[in-house]
Amino acid sequence: MTTEQLQHVMEQLVPIISRAGEIVNSYLKKDKQIENKGTIDLITAADKESEEFLFGRLREVFPGDSILAEEGNTHEGSSGYTWVIDPVDGTTSFAHGFPAFAVSVGLIDSDKQPVLGAVLTPFFNELFTAYRGGGAWLNGERIHVSKAASLSVSLLGTGFPYNRRSIMDRLLKRLGAFLHNCHDIRRTGSAALDICYVAAGRLDGYYEEGLKPWDTAAALVILEEAGGLSSKFDGSKVDIFVPEIVVANPNIFQEILDLLSKV
Ligand code: IPD
Ligand code: CA
Ligand code: CA
Repeated sequence: MTTEQLQHVMEQLVPIISRAGEIVNSYLKKDKQIENKGTIDLITAADKESEEFLFGRLREVFPGDSILAEEGNTHEGSSGYTWVIDPVDGTTSFAHGFPAFAVSVGLIDSDKQPVLGAVLTPFFNELFTAYRGGGAWLNGERIHVSKAASLSVSLLGTGFPYNRRSIMDRLLKRLGAFLHNCHDIRRTGSAALDICYVAAGRLDGYYEEGLKPWDTAAALVILEEAGGLSSKFDGSKVDIFVPEIVVANPNIFQEILDLLSKV
C-alpha cells in the first residue's frame, strides 16, 4: 500500500477503535463479568464485546483483509493484509480498575511486517497512531523516542507473562540485572502501552518475553515511526509471532541487548 492508501485506512480505523474504547470504558461502571482463561489469565465482558465489535466492523470496512484476534475470532481474506486485534490489552489491570489498559489494532502485510497501528487507552483517552512513512502521533501531535544517553539514566518498562510461575528464576534474575543498572522499572500491565510509552519518550526502553502478536503488532509501527529500535533478545530481527521483544531509543538499545545476553 502507498502512504496515501495507508493514511486513508487510518482515517477509517480511528472512529472504529474509538468506539471500541467507549465499549471498554462503559464496563468500568458495570459488572465486568470476570472469568478465568487460566489460573491467573482473565477475560471480561469488555474483552468479548470489544472484540466482537472490532471484528464485525473491520470485516465490513475492509472485506478483503484477514483478521486475527486474541479471543478467537479469525477470518481468512484475500488481500494479503491481516488485522491483528487485542480488544483489551491489560485485562488484569482493567479487571482490577487500574487504568493502564488499551485497545490495540495493527495491520500486517503478507510478510507479517506491521505497516499500520493504533493503540488507544480508553481511560486516559490517548490515541497513539502510525503507519509506515507517516510518523508517529499521540492525539494528533508528533512523538519521538527519548534521548536518554545510557542505561544508567533510563526508565525501563517490562512485563511478566502468565506462565511466570514456571520461569520465575529467569524472570527475577533478569529483573535484578536491570534494576541494578537503570534509574527504575515500571510495569503498566499492557505491553502495547509499554511500547507506545517508549515511542513517546515516557520510557526509554522495554523488554518482555511471553508476548503474543496482538500485544505488539500495532505498537511496533508506532515505535519504529517514532525513531525507536526493536529486536528479539539476541538482537535478531523482531518477529511478532516470536514471543520476546526488546525496544528502546537508539542510544541505549545495544546496552539492553548486552545486559540480556549476560543473564
Ligand atoms: C498482557 C499484557 C501484559 C503482558 C502480558 C500480556 P492481556 O496482555 O500485555 O502487559 O505482560 O504478557 O499477555 O492478556 O492483558 O491482553
Ligand atoms: Ca495482550
Ligand atoms: Ca487482551
